[in-house]
Amino acid sequence: MPVTVVVGAQWGDEGKAKIIDLLAADHSHVVRYQGGHNAGHTVVVGSERYALQLIPSGVLYPHIVPVIGNGVVVDLPTLFKEIDTLASRGIDCSRLRVSSIAHLIFPWHQSLDALYEAGRGDDRIGTTLKGIGPAYADKARRRGLRAGEVLDPDGFAIAVKAQTLAHNAEIVALGGEALDPEVVVSQFTALAARLAPYVCDTVELLHDALDRDEPLLLEGAQATFLDLDHGTYPFVTSSNPTAGGACVGTGIGPRYLTRIVGISKAYSTRVGSGPFPTELTDELGDKLVEIGREFGTVTGRRRRCGWIDCVMLRKAVRLNSLTELALTKLDVLDTFDEIKVCTEYDAQGRPVYAVLPGWLTSIAEVTTLGALPQNARALVSLIEQEVGIPISIVGTGAERDSYVMWQ
Ligand code: GDP
Ligand code: IMO
Ligand code: MG
Repeated sequence: MPVTVVVGAQWGDEGKAKIIDLLAADHSHVVRYQGGHNAGHTVVVGSERYALQLIPSGVLYPHIVPVIGNGVVVDLPTLFKEIDTLASRGIDCSRLRVSSIAHLIFPWHQSLDALYEAGRGDDRIGTTLKGIGPAYADKARRRGLRAGEVLDPDGFAIAVKAQTLAHNAEIVALGGEALDPEVVVSQFTALAARLAPYVCDTVELLHDALDRDEPLLLEGAQATFLDLDHGTYPFVTSSNPTAGGACVGTGIGPRYLTRIVGISKAYSTRVGSGPFPTELTDELGDKLVEIGREFGTVTGRRRRCGWIDCVMLRKAVRLNSLTELALTKLDVLDTFDEIKVCTEYDAQGRPVYAVLPGWLTSIAEVTTLGALPQNARALVSLIEQEVGIPISIVGTGAERDSYVMWQ
């Protein structure tokens, strides 16, 4: 049975959630496989805008079972805030399932994230300060607490207290403020009781669904070039957003993955520090920020903007075995006289551009390929040719229905 993976092909915020929402209609489960509440996934339906951090983007469909897989690091205050906010808007999350072996984020991870960033000074990564890196570090150090541990409330409380004290030593050594173990234990005892009904063996759950021939959708957070191994290290996140991470982070072996959809904007953005070969630091960059509303969903930070980079997209095809590309936010380029596409780097590593004329008209209402202006079609065709895989969907606006099927 087909398993579809959706992966960011750039540095995040490509519009993954919008495409996931679109594809979810034909799937039974939507599964987050890595990252945590550093993600900000926006789905727009009519006048309603949903900004999701931990809950899988398929949640808006009543038939979808949303699953938080084992590869995710889960911040319980954020999870329940999100569940409550969705409930207040009429979205029921009782179908949600959380892997018993997913690791939990605690306040000490957030304290340490901030202290490590401060310690790096000018070399700071520009993390979201959500405690993601320290939580995965504890997982790798084999001392993290996992969701299943909430099923033993007494043992969980003892472990939380011991962990608070252990982490306090490092927090204080780095100049931070010690956490009060009683406060943390009391907060997390209440959260643990709320989490318990959602916890299960999601590997079994997903394989039972596969045995019933149900199609699954695996939702990537972050992106290929934020991947801990394949991204622009050290300016990366601490998990593996690339498609291989979808196998590890769900417990579904590679032979099930049949459709691997890379998501790219028609230009590039990056939030946080690190290399960005096609970055525009002039007024064209400001124009992309303004028209594309390029401010982080989670942190509100201004995203750095630049032209699309096909050298990186070709690399993303290899790293993820992408079978197709969805190109989002084409409409943001509506008012640009000229549009550049980086096709290669020169000997010095500088981008070499193809320059195309813009279409200078709104494509917001366009719903068919034939109605797309000739210059817009030429741009998409060039990107498709340069990247070397089919483009399947082109985004023409933030709303659920704003897209054109390219194939
Ligand atoms: P994600 O993290 O990859 O899911 O992306 P984000 O939600 O962080 O950022 C993408 C932003 O672009 C959101 O505000 C979306 O509503 C918006 N968006 C997605 N697709 C399109 C599109 O085709 N056109 C426009 N104008 N906006 C889009
Ligand atoms: P979505 O899923 C864009 C970036 C941060 C920082 C680096 C490490 O919405 O695409 P972290 O807090 O993960 O340790 O930060 O990764 N980053 C993202 N950038 N979109 C995201 O998620 C991101 N999640 C993390 O800005 O540069
Ligand atoms: Mg985002």
